[in-house]
Amino acid sequence: MRTERRVLLSTAQHSYRTCFKHTAMDNPTVAALAGLAAGAAVATMYATASAQRAESADKAAHPNAAASSSTMAGHVAVVTGSGGGIGRSIAEKFAAAGASVMVADFNAAAGEATVAKIYAAGGEATFCLWDATKEADTVRLMATTKATYGRLDHLVNNAVRFVFGHLRGAGAGSGTGTDRDVTDEDWKALFETNVLGYARTIKHALPLMRLNQPSDKIIHNDQGAGVARLDCGSRGSIVNVASVSSWIAQPEFIPYNISKGGVSQMTKCCALDFADERIRVNAVGPGTIDTQGAYGHMKAIGTNDGVSLVDNDYAEGKKFFGTFASCAKRMAAPDEVASAVFFLASDEASYITGELLVVDGGLSI
Ligand SMILES: NC(=O)c1ccc[n+]([C@@H]2O[C@H](COP(=O)([O-])OP(=O)(O)OC[C@H]3O[C@@H](n4cnc5c(N)ncnc54)[C@H](O)[C@@H]3O)[C@@H](O)[C@H]2O)c1
Repeated sequence: MRTERRVLLSTAQHSYRTCFKHTAMDNPTVAALAGLAAGAAVATMYATASAQRAESADKAAHPNAAASSSTMAGHVAVVTGSGGGIGRSIAEKFAAAGASVMVADFNAAAGEATVAKIYAAGGEATFCLWDATKEADTVRLMATTKATYGRLDHLVNNAVRFVFGHLRGAGAGSGTGTDRDVTDEDWKALFETNVLGYARTIKHALPLMRLNQPSDKIIHNDQGAGVARLDCGSRGSIVNVASVSSWIAQPEFIPYNISKGGVSQMTKCCALDFADERIRVNAVGPGTIDTQGAYGHMKAIGTNDGVSLVDNDYAEGKKFFGTFASCAKRMAAPDEVASAVFFLASDEASYITGELLVVDGGLSI
């Protein structure tokens, strides 16, 4: 059994046992894990996944079925930074659709809490302690995914470091918490997580995705000139969580926005490079989303009335985020971003690659 789950036993013993019992009986992945102990794991995993895929292939063979096939039964997803916020919602959404989810985060307690939530809902997940800034951790993350679930279908890059500031000299800006110089250390730390962190997971996920057969979405298209069979499946899909900050300018956002602009270009370039391998790469661009990560920024910006904020007024920042920072006049729930990620990862988006799907309540229109 997985070490990570033993850790979980001590923190959420009752619910874990209950859920484990439930999934052990009902979830083929857990059944396959029993095979792991008996030394037959990988073969069993593949057999299980193929059986599930064969089942969905039958469904997809019907011309109308493909349009409604949003299930991820038998799929395996790695979601980085899924110990909280948007990442946790993504992990929960994939698991609710039947995917086995590898929850990757450098905050062990938070990551285990995500796994416990997924278990409590009857889903399948494993926590992997992982730091985006360490390539060895990423190699281990992918190896653990293969050893645990036998395959990888979806990678969601989401872990983030928020760094704000400007290049005008400290104190020459807004007078709020973002009125600070950006140091070389800031740039390095930011790029390690937000850019290199994404590039490394993509690089190490690719060999696993290459092992997959293309998913079984087949459309029989008949527009009156005979039936054309379209093989629309992918070997894997990658979704990068970028930001509305990938393409708009915001005051004192230089470091963060440059890193998210990089994610946008990484998405397009990888989509082009991987297209011949039938691996799709897309991004979502969230606007103002109600997460712990956003709270830090709300505290930093405080109010927008020009008054210097010594104590960084979180309530004022939240009001600003909620009222001015979108046409919708509200922040979004992380789940609303997760829906967009899920769509792009799924075969529903089979003809979409290199796209940045904005989820900002109209902020950037
Ligand atoms: N919240 C927003 O308003 C907003 C807006 C636009 C884009 N985004 C993007 O959405 C994504 C998620 O943001 P969030 O608000 O949910 O963030 P968050 O801070 O609430 O959660 C980030 C998660 O990443 C983990 N993490 C951070 N650094 C890590 C590292 N080096 N290694 C491993 N794990 C690490 C944290 O432990 C945490 O669980 C980010 O890519 C962010 O840029 C968020």
